[in-house]
This record gives sequence, structure tokens and C-alpha cells, in this order.
Amino acid sequence: MTQSLTITRPDDWHLHLRDGAMLQTVLPETARHFARAIIMPNLVPPVVNSADAAAYRTRIMAALPADLTFEPLMTLYLTEDTDPEDVAAAHASGLITSVKLYPAGATTNSSSGVRDFDKVRPVLEKMAEIGCPLCVHGEVTDRDIDIFDREAVFIDRVLDPIRRSIPGLRVVMEHITTKNGADYVLANDKDLGATITVQHLIFDRNDMLVGGMRPHYYCLPILKRREHREALRAAAFSGDKRFFLGTDSAPHPTHAKEAECCAAGCFTAPNALSILAQTFEEGGALDKLEGFTSLHGPAFYGLPVNTDTITLTKGDAEVAFPETLPAGDHTVTVFDPGFPLYWRVA
Ligand code: DOR
Ligand code: ZN
Repeated sequence: MTQSLTITRPDDWHLHLRDGAMLQTVLPETARHFARAIIMPNLVPPVVNSADAAAYRTRIMAALPADLTFEPLMTLYLTEDTDPEDVAAAHASGLITSVKLYPAGATTNSSSGVRDFDKVRPVLEKMAEIGCPLCVHGEVTDRDIDIFDREAVFIDRVLDPIRRSIPGLRVVMEHITTKNGADYVLANDKDLGATITVQHLIFDRNDMLVGGMRPHYYCLPILKRREHREALRAAAFSGDKRFFLGTDSAPHPTHAKEAECCAAGCFTAPNALSILAQTFEEGGALDKLEGFTSLHGPAFYGLPVNTDTITLTKGDAEVAFPETLPAGDHTVTVFDPGFPLYWRVA
């Protein structure tokens, strides 16, 4: 029996495309299904000003296969030297959609991030004034805070004080992983949204750790306890407009994932929509999928909803995805949820 579901074409509100050979490999995987994506700026070196963003955008468009359309929504990497006027000009011209805050040392390529939040206050105030959203990697980096507590502590110690002292600053809590994150969004009805990844909707930390460590499930913020996964599912399945899809698809070469010190990130772009359709169906929330993937994000960012559609079909046969894709001299391993998938994008 075949079931089918047609929805407005999705967008990905948090995506890593990288550069060079990896960009060539992974861009089509997103552009095939998604119309737009918020492009993370954590390259080496990072995308810190409007000239960097314009050049990166050009490289992305040059890597796009001729038969696909895709709009990269560029971001700037916030540093303690970011110029508020450069942000304002880049936002006014439409070159950038948002600015990304990485606490220094929180994750992959975040060493140029923010150590002293007072130093970026002028930029944040300018962003509040012009309506430019801030995308936040919400984890503290103190060594004395347990990795499983870093999101909750960030909300209390950093995010809430910033939001209280800069009213009108629009914030997206990227890739929330805890009930604390979902509850914080639910308690604040203005100027706050959150993205949720595929892996955090389907897994808890046991999936990564029990029976052996699975490096392809390691990402940051790290998978949490079951109760947190349940809270994220409830948020996504509720149809609340403040929650939307940001896959955080974050490709690394296979050798960097399968290493003694494994790189953080799950490359979910190829099968994100298959997994989501199945997950929403299991949760009795298939009617909420379109809002999560295609409507809530544009509403938060004040952008038009896509005018075309995609059709998802569910058949009896398991859908196969490649295990790896070639990326220059290396490969990149496609996220494998470890359970069979039956939904495909037609
Ligand atoms: O798992 C992650 N990978 N989390 C991040 O915040 C960054 C990302 C990456 O760039 O690989
Ligand atoms: Zn990310």
C-alpha cells in the first residue's frame, strides 16, 4: 500500500555546507529537497564579515548543480571584533539573514567565538534595533559544568540575562536538546524560537552509548536523556509555531568521525525528511510535519513561504540510502538511524 503526503517545500533553518570538495558533495543533498537553508559560518577561517559572506555565497552558488535551485541564507560568525555597522549594512542589503553566536570553544571551529559577552553588546543592540535575528549555540563551555548540563546552564547564566537586557533582540535557540530549552521557549512568547534536529527527535544518549560508542551519532549539543527527547518530540509534534526544523546536518570526513577523538556532527541531509516523516507518523503528528519543516521557520524569519511543494510517499519497501558519499579524497558517512525507513521524497 502506498501513502502519500504533499507539503510546501521545506527549508532547513540550520545547515553546515563546508567548502571545497565537501561543499560539492553535500550541497545537492540539501538542494534536492530544501528550497533554502540558514548557512552556518563556522568555516576555517570563519565567515566574519560581509565580504566573507558574499564570497562564500558565490562559492555555494557555483557548486550548485544546474538542475537544482536553492537559496543560501547567509550568516555572520559573531566575534568580539564584529562591527555593528557591517552587520547592519549586510542585513539591509539582504546579504545576510542572521548572525551566529558561538561561545568560544563550544563546538567545531568555535575558537573565534565569544568569550566576554559584554564585548558583543553593541552588535546585539544594533541587531535588536534593525530586527536581525541572532542564532545561538546555547552551551556554556566552563570545564566545571558537566557536558549534559551545559545547555540548561547557558539558558540561566547567559541567554536569559542577554534577552532581558536587550529587549527586542530576536533569538533562535539552535538545535535545542533539553526539556529546559523547550520550556524556555514556551515560557517566552515574543522574539524567541528554536530549531530541532532530526537526531535529537529520534535518539537519546543511550542510542549513542549503550553496546558501544557510535561516533556517527555524536554531535553537539550532545544527545541527552530520554525525558529530554520526549520534550523535544512534544514540542515538534504540538504544531507550536516557535519550533521548526534545523537539521544541523554537519558533514565530516569519515576518518574524522571514526577516530580516537571523533568530530561532532551528523550528516543527515540525504535522509532527514524520510526520518522526519516516519517519526511524525509514529507520533500521530503527520499533520504537523508541514508546519515544522515548511511554515514556522519562514514565519519566524519574516520570509515568504515557498510556493512549490514536495510529495512524500510511503511504500512497503525499505528505502535505501548510500552508506557513504565520495568527498574529494575522502568519504562522508550518511547518517544511518539504525531502523528501516519507508518514506521517500518522490
Ligand atoms: O555537532 C555539531 N557539529 N555541532 C555543532 O555545533 C557544530 C557542528 C559542526 O560544525 O560540525
Ligand atoms: Zn550546527
